[in-house]
Amino acid sequence: MTINFILNGEDVAIRTEADGRLLDILRRSFNLLGAKSGCLSGRCGVCFVILNSAVVPSCLVPAFRVRNSEIITIEGFAQTDEYQDIVTGFSQAGVECCGYCDSGKILAAGALLERIPRPSREEALAAFAGIRCRCTEPESLAEGVLAAADIRQRRFYGRGT
Ligand code: FES
Ligand code: FES
Repeated sequence: MTINFILNGEDVAIRTEADGRLLDILRRSFNLLGAKSGCLSGRCGVCFVILNSAVVPSCLVPAFRVRNSEIITIEGFAQTDEYQDIVTGFSQAGVECCGYCDSGKILAAGALLERIPRPSREEALAAFAGIRCRCTEPESLAEGVLAAADIRQRRFYGRGT
């Protein structure tokens, strides 16, 4: 089947099996390698992308679900000011990121801040529930998101709120 969708702001179309994994489509057909192949069962978060404003494990998204939707991968998100806010916030909080997990952590934070610009600590912690990383304490991740939220607010309004 042919599937049309918006990928990092561009209209795209691809011929694929209806049940093909979005993760494989992104990596093989579009050479977008930021989403990684890990558990392939929705438990590690290294394959996260943003689908219609929600972060999802692309390993569990079949191609037919993508039709007429909007996908943002880390490659697209990296072009935004929001990406810089999060990278800076993570750095301030000492969040560990490796090349394996960074896209999932950053996109999880990005989707949260888009939905809730001033999240509580509990909401920040919950945003990372689907990410498996033993290198960073969950508390540090939450601190990183709260720092990013402050930076984002200052960028918008010239001050923290
Ligand atoms: S590879 Fe998709 S959640 Fe682990
Ligand atoms: S898996 Fe990347 S820092 Fe832990």
